[in-house]
Amino acid sequence: MTKHLPLTDALIEYAIDVGVREHAVQLKCRAETAAMGGVSIMQIAPEQGAFMGMIARLMGAKRYIEVGTFTGYSALSVALAMPDDGRVDALDISEEYMVVARRYWKEAGQAQKITGHVAPALSTMERLLKEGGANAYDFAFIDADKPSYDAYYEMMLKLVRPGGLIAIDNVLWFGRIIDPADTSEGTMALKALNAKIKGDARVDTVLLPFADGIFMCRKR
Ligand SMILES: C[S@@+](CC[C@H](N)C(=O)[O-])C[C@H]1O[C@@H](n2cnc3c(N)ncnc32)[C@H](O)[C@@H]1O
Repeated sequence: MTKHLPLTDALIEYAIDVGVREHAVQLKCRAETAAMGGVSIMQIAPEQGAFMGMIARLMGAKRYIEVGTFTGYSALSVALAMPDDGRVDALDISEEYMVVARRYWKEAGQAQKITGHVAPALSTMERLLKEGGANAYDFAFIDADKPSYDAYYEMMLKLVRPGGLIAIDNVLWFGRIIDPADTSEGTMALKALNAKIKGDARVDTVLLPFADGIFMCRKR
């Protein structure tokens, strides 16, 4: 007997209406990003932002790092849930998106917590590691180019402290993850990483079939 509820758009809208408390600037970021057209699919879902904020609060997270910032919604969701001395490192390759993200962070009064790094994420992660970032982060989020996910995961295992969390987005890949005919580079990279994490003794895991699938990996 199935134990999951087949979600409809109406049910998801209901869950967002009842359960997601968005800051006015989060709402604005979401509305303006939606108006950008097709690229807006890249933004995390609002219930996912609320979930990440809840995780940060439960963990008492003070340091958060993300790969893939786009217009700033995920970084803002976590920053809003952190205390005043919380610190966020937000990594993206696009100056154009980072300019937009910084505007929202400032408007929400969170800019002092968040450092935006514009460069290929792996080079930023190498630099942060050298600058004292080893075992320094409580919470990490991977949400960028899929072929590099495995490299990001390995770097996050160095940056996150034991007991800290690495959350990996899009691991169900809009259902394509179980399509044997889909051999595109991004899909193959996600399939390989999911299979690797399944047997990875370095982490405790749960794959949440929520939003587009989030692999929650607690570093042992
Ligand atoms: C799915 S979006 C991130 C969405 C974001 N977490 C949010 O809450 O809206 C992916 C982002 O990864 C960035 N990106 C792609 N390749 C990258 C790379 N090599 N290094 C850093 N960022 C990269 C893109 O510019 C894009 O903004």
